[in-house]
Amino acid sequence: MSIAWTSRYALRTKDVKSSAIRELLKITQQPEVISFGGGLPANDIFPIERFEEACKEVLEHNAVMALQYGQTEGYKPLRDMIARHITRYGIKAEAENVLITTGSQQALDLIGKLLINSGDKVLVEAPTYLGALQAFNVYGAQYVSVPCDDDGLQTDLLEAPLRLGPKFMYVLPNFQNPGGTTLSEDRRRTLVSLANKYGIPIVEDDPYGQLRFEGEHLPPLVVLDRENVPHDDGYTLGNVIYLSTFSKTLAPGLRIGWIVAPAEVIAKLVQLKQGTDLHTSTFAQVIAYEVARGNFLDQHVKTIRDAYRERRDVMLEALSQYFPSQVKWTHPKGGLFLWVTLPQGMDANKLFHEALKQNVAFVPGDSFFAPNEHSKEGSRHLRLNFSNAQPEQIREGIRRLSVAVKTQLEQLRIAQLS
Ligand SMILES: Cc1ncc(COP(=O)(O)O)c(C=O)c1O
Repeated sequence: MSIAWTSRYALRTKDVKSSAIRELLKITQQPEVISFGGGLPANDIFPIERFEEACKEVLEHNAVMALQYGQTEGYKPLRDMIARHITRYGIKAEAENVLITTGSQQALDLIGKLLINSGDKVLVEAPTYLGALQAFNVYGAQYVSVPCDDDGLQTDLLEAPLRLGPKFMYVLPNFQNPGGTTLSEDRRRTLVSLANKYGIPIVEDDPYGQLRFEGEHLPPLVVLDRENVPHDDGYTLGNVIYLSTFSKTLAPGLRIGWIVAPAEVIAKLVQLKQGTDLHTSTFAQVIAYEVARGNFLDQHVKTIRDAYRERRDVMLEALSQYFPSQVKWTHPKGGLFLWVTLPQGMDANKLFHEALKQNVAFVPGDSFFAPNEHSKEGSRHLRLNFSNAQPEQIREGIRRLSVAVKTQLEQLRIAQLS
């Protein structure tokens, strides 16, 4: 008798769907398609030689340790390096506050495992990172969404949702995915003080913070929160869990991310991670350490910033040149994405199919809204990635996309006339 597998699946799998982006990436991998779809770093900037040297060095001098099981917390020199590195942003942490994870994506899953009971509310930005929704959905999260504008989360709209008692807030203050927006300093201060007033923890996801193209670095929420706490005795009183990753600064294939949190929270996460994967790949951690050390990472981040700044500028120029004036878009000061808003009546999902006819792809906006918020709003947006394509492809891709946009606008105009 063959088993009806679906009848055996746990309830938590009921609403789990594969990510729209991963599915789209499959379609858009044909060479003739210019894809602004995935959040892929630039292929041509990976520091391949440095990785070669690091692998050689590790296999010659440290092979047994790199190939053996390791501690769940992570490779100690790497945890020390991360703790040291984040002090430049004012984050005070020791190795005991750092847990190495298998990408930030695993950090999100572990946070779901740690904090979410089925039915708990999680406060998210609208739009927000699709992968976080995927991670939290499995634990039965319900969502309270707060809209963003060009300065990020609209903190003036926060108080009523906070009164609903969300378990935590999930926030992306720097060069948000998908919006490309940055939370202003005033709003950061308002956010942490409201979190403090209502006793709601914040999960601050910061994969892009180092990739700033212009302006000054703004203080992370985790730092502002410490300023807020009346009897600060080091990290232990913090209301913020901070996440980051090497995915956008070294290579996503490493799958190395980290969580910075009070030591007691890290200790609990360590127990949860044991059941997930025992520890993050020792080999990947040792290589990442070897690649990043000295001032290589800092130098490399400068190269990435310069390249992405140029690509962003090319995309912004091409949008101004080719797109009709009714279409609006964000002007990110860093990161990998910008967010386009179509005029009323247009639909990004229909546009996606029109765009594929022109051999150009993007991600339609509705996947970035929490499930109970799938509003008409989402379908008026698209996320464009500017890090992966070369400048000349960006220009050509935006030109092709503008053809699709104009075609749909014309169809809409005719439909409205009839
Ligand atoms: C906001 C955000 N968080 C987390 C991740 C996951 O990153 P990682 O590759 O470290 O798992 C991404 C990836 O794009 C992201 O944009």
